[in-house]
Amino acid sequence: MNQLNWHERISHLLEAYKENHSLDPHRLQFHLMPAVGLLNDPNGLIHYKGAYHVFFQWNPFGTVHGPKCWGHYTSQDLVYWQEHQPSLVPSEWYEKDGCYSGSAIEVDGDMVLFYSGNVKHEDGTRETFQCMAVSHNGFVFEKKGPVVLLPEGYTSHFRDPKVWKRDGLWYMVVGAQTFYQQGAVVLFASTDLKEWEIKGTLAGSHLNGLNDFGYMWECPDFFELGEKDVLLVSPQGLEAKESLYQNEFQSGYFVGKWKVGTTEFPHGEFQELDRGFDFYAPQTFEDKAGRRIMLGWMGITDAQESYQPTIEKGWVHALTIPRELELKNYRIIQKPVPELKELREPKSFKYQTSLKNETKTWHELEGIVSEIKIEFQQNQAETIKIEIRKNLMIIYDRSLSRLTLNRKRFADGRIESRSCFIEKLEDLHIFLDTSAIEIFVNGGQEVFTARFFAEDNEKEIIFTVDGQVDMELEKWNLHL
Ligand code: FRU
Repeated sequence: MNQLNWHERISHLLEAYKENHSLDPHRLQFHLMPAVGLLNDPNGLIHYKGAYHVFFQWNPFGTVHGPKCWGHYTSQDLVYWQEHQPSLVPSEWYEKDGCYSGSAIEVDGDMVLFYSGNVKHEDGTRETFQCMAVSHNGFVFEKKGPVVLLPEGYTSHFRDPKVWKRDGLWYMVVGAQTFYQQGAVVLFASTDLKEWEIKGTLAGSHLNGLNDFGYMWECPDFFELGEKDVLLVSPQGLEAKESLYQNEFQSGYFVGKWKVGTTEFPHGEFQELDRGFDFYAPQTFEDKAGRRIMLGWMGITDAQESYQPTIEKGWVHALTIPRELELKNYRIIQKPVPELKELREPKSFKYQTSLKNETKTWHELEGIVSEIKIEFQQNQAETIKIEIRKNLMIIYDRSLSRLTLNRKRFADGRIESRSCFIEKLEDLHIFLDTSAIEIFVNGGQEVFTARFFAEDNEKEIIFTVDGQVDMELEKWNLHL
């Protein structure tokens, strides 16, 4: 399929699906999602010439993984988004089966993208090329072809270049699998972005005290945060262990100190970025105000995919809201960007309340698209349960110091859960969209992200307290 065919086919599809949107209660209000087809990783995040650009992995032709192009949204403020024609579609031999994930930088006023050209052969083997494309305006790109070929020692699971500049030199990290089936991140350096010198493995499943830590590491990102350097990565193949690594694949980070220009990156433990059900392949960028902002794919590659109710409506998956990152005691703190306050209706509902061995709901708390802040002032309760729209339940168990999110499984309605240790529950900050929830715990120390699919009439938010809790609740209806 050539470039023109892609664009033509996509505009036909968009015509056909537009009508569906108004009939589909699960279309999201303030999260980015595909008009049609499957969305996965956020790509090429950049604040360029006054606009925020979010590209994303997109298969417009089906709700399954397939040939990917780069879908494209822009925004002036991280709140209101405009969708554009896809910016990279597979048209060349080196990307014939997909323009896979990658990143963006600004160079002398141009936007430069790096991405993985994916080539699949009939015998099931694949090839991978790290490619470059350049644009003067951020919309129309000229492809420059492969700039990095597969180095020795790695399988063709080698992809997702992230490029940045440090001390006058360009660096690239690529997600990789070694010949010994171990996940790794490979570092390259360049002076001109065209010739790349391989430096070696920056981090990996067998380095820095790690042992058997996944068979493939996808979507690396590497940046300074506070006084440290942070490597984000999405390892595949971690075994679930107590409350850790419960999803099919995980995304998390290592904090360390990079000896700039070398492969020396002594780092601490892997820490998961999100404790919910649907979060993978996040990417960050630094905006003009110097903030480090992250968006993740609110989905995951696993069997669940085939069951999501939106599939009948021709689309699947979404991105998280933009979250600002900070580093505190070797941990990443995530906060919804303050721009999202723009979505609030002027009047909020605010309660100061004390609940004692009771179940309680307030009519004003009901809502499908809202933001809710709960501050726990005195918590003597054994358990606090918050049921949301009959599909989700947040449970804090004080004696176990455990926060749990239960949700109704899409396929059969059975309850599945994710949880983590929270020594003392101080606050919850909840962003609720038609079919998605993001729960920021204790100022963003932990985050739980999940999709859910409730009926229109399931609107209530119900508190059940065993013991006594004093709390302040504030709720805004959100509107685009
Ligand atoms: C992560 C990923 C990337 C790849 C892309 C393809 O979800 O598998 O490694 O580039 O998706 O869409």
